[in-house]
Amino acid sequence: MIHARIIGTGSYAPKKVITNHDLEKMVETSDQWIIERTGIKERRVCEKGETTSDLAHEAAKHALHAAGIAPADIDLIIVATLSPDTHMPSMACKLQARLGAKRAAAFDLYAACSGFLYGLSTADAFIRSGMHQTILVIGAEALSRYTDWEDRTTCVLFGDGAGAAVLQRHAGKRGILSTHLHSDGSFGDLLHIPAGGAAHPATHDTVERRQHYIKMKGNETFKVAVRALEDVVQEALDHNKVKPEDIDLLVPHQANLRIIQAMAKRLNMPMEKVALTIHKYGNTSAASIPMALDEAVRNGRVKENDLILLEAFGGGLTWASALIRW
Ligand code: ACO
Repeated sequence: MIHARIIGTGSYAPKKVITNHDLEKMVETSDQWIIERTGIKERRVCEKGETTSDLAHEAAKHALHAAGIAPADIDLIIVATLSPDTHMPSMACKLQARLGAKRAAAFDLYAACSGFLYGLSTADAFIRSGMHQTILVIGAEALSRYTDWEDRTTCVLFGDGAGAAVLQRHAGKRGILSTHLHSDGSFGDLLHIPAGGAAHPATHDTVERRQHYIKMKGNETFKVAVRALEDVVQEALDHNKVKPEDIDLLVPHQANLRIIQAMAKRLNMPMEKVALTIHKYGNTSAASIPMALDEAVRNGRVKENDLILLEAFGGGLTWASALIRW
């Protein structure tokens, strides 16, 4: 049986910290409100001049080191991001050059917070098809650059960071057992950035109307997220004929502690089996799952043959799962 196996992970968060108390000085909010509604205590943001590709580069170097492979071994680089340094060239091409991954093809992928799982699924398919042997998948974001720091309904939520995984062809039982991807574009307006694309290019007017920032209908998004995640998790369990108690670690997208707790409850899973980083990083979109996974690996929470369930939900709307035999 051919599987794509994760042979190394890495992550990186910028050094600059913004606490809830810092936000109290910027908008009408409180540490208590933010913690009670989201579980977030602080988040990391890029310094002036620091970019998404700087974060992605650090995460990628850690992942390559952990995997014990050289940049020249990489066949393909996939970067999931909604906050690339530029729209052209892609982040993946920038990283291909910075890493010196001379043989690698490279492209970016947009699926908002589900981006890393979309990337993982794509890499898995390329590897199982025999087209590529070794693929670097990265989730990286500088959402602070798309955050309206005057809008209390969104600015308390997001943070910057990057996570990476090296996948390699493996003949055996370990690796990615399944991925499931979903979308529903009819909910696109729940979570969007109105301007900056070809429909509404940047003008003085779009800038004045703050149309280049993330807009979210949080409450409605919350309800759809819980339903969609319940379905996609059940789909992964059914497809693999496993029971919730078989799962050793749940690595959820870190959007809201209440959503994560609802999923753990649904799976009858103690919170000790859930990887949590939301309190210190906030919602880092495509970066949140690989950052949480890397932390779990580095803390020794992931052991050989463990069953790891990843699940995500994000703008688009998109949602996804991956089940991995580590
Ligand atoms: N501080 C204080 N009060 C606030 C703040 C704040 N930062 N933000 C909103 N409020 C107020 C609102 O104005 C509202 O006041 P009102 O009742 O007087 O109108 C009240 O708090 C309640 O607001 P809600 O939006 O109903 O709060 P809710 O409990 O839904 O929490 C939150 C908001 C945290 C955003 C939640 O809805 C959520 O997490 N949604 C899901 C987010 C998500 O999963 N996104 C997908 C991934 S992100 C991506 O893809 C990039």
